[in-house]
Parts: sequence; C-alpha cells; structure tokens
Amino acid sequence: MTRIAIYPGSFDPVTNGHLDIIQRGSSLTDHLIVAVARNAGKSPMFSIDERIALLENEIKSMEKDGLISGKVTVNTFTGLLIDYAEKSNANMILRGLRAVTDFEYEFQMTGMNRRMNRDIETVFLMASERNQFIASSMVKEIADLDGDISSFVPNSVVEAIRSRGK
Ligand code: PNS
Repeated sequence: MTRIAIYPGSFDPVTNGHLDIIQRGSSLTDHLIVAVARNAGKSPMFSIDERIALLENEIKSMEKDGLISGKVTVNTFTGLLIDYAEKSNANMILRGLRAVTDFEYEFQMTGMNRRMNRDIETVFLMASERNQFIASSMVKEIADLDGDISSFVPNSVVEAIRSRGK
C-alpha cells in the first residue's frame, strides 16, 4: 500500500517545529503532502503563496542535506480537510503534538474527521524536545515586538519578516 499523508496547517509562518515534523513524517510515508489551509487564521502575516514558497524553500534545503526520505510536496486546500485528504487519496493525516494544551483541540478534530471518514487515520508525532513550545502565533508576536526569533524559525523566515518591516 502506498502511504500518502496530509500534513495540514496554517504555517503562518513555518517554524522549526513544523520542519521537524516534516522531516520525521517523511520517513514514515511514501508521499507527504504539506497542505496549507486557505481558510484558517483571520489576519495572516504571510499570504498563501508566500507560505508555500517558504515551505518549499526549506523542504528543498532539507532534501539537499539528505534529511528527507520519501517524496514531500506542498499544496494548498480550501474547505474541509477530510475532503481534501480523500481527494488526494491520502490514508493518513499527520499532526504534531506539543504541550498537553494541544490535546483537546486535536482530540476533537480527530474524532470529527474520523466520523466523516473512517478510512483516514490521524497520526500524531510528538514535537521534539527542542521544539515543544514553538507556536507560529507567538513567533509573530515576538517578531512584532522586535524580539529575536532566530531559534524558533528558519533563517528564510527571519529574513522574510525582516524584509517586510512594519
Ligand atoms: O495550523 P493549525 O491552525 O493548527 O491548522 C488547523 C487546520 C488547518 C488543520 C484546521 O483548521 C483544518 O483542518 N481546517 C480545515 C477545515 C476543516 O476541515 N475543519 C473541520 C475540522 S474537524
């Protein structure tokens, strides 16, 4: 069986935590589709195209460094995640879990997605120790307040935020 997984999220912006999940997720799947949700988040920092470009750039560089096994592509979706997963012939939805506070939301989402399609399993990877606490929303707040975000996100994101100014 070909293992196709969707790794969905807002990725606004991509963090080191996301990249860790992409790297580890790629070793468990034949094709990992990183799916940027169009309808999540009301006032995004980056446009969908910018988020895709940042993700593709980082994935390319991880591939060059031999950190990715299996095929990884980036795409975008609107509407229900479960419909997109079905259309993509995915058998798995991949999510990262950080602190216990993530659990309730993920638990509900998993249950509802499973009720809608029992054939698509949601699989969780525990965030690695280094990335347990990283959240895009806090990265944006720290950047907005001129804090140092360089240990939370890749350099390309630091540069992208710096170049847009305020
Ligand atoms: O990066 P996030 O905010 O954790 O990602 C959340 C996301 C995009 C995975 C979630 O909001 C989602 O699946 N949105 C698509 C709409 C949908 O399917 N909603 C019902 C979920 S049960």
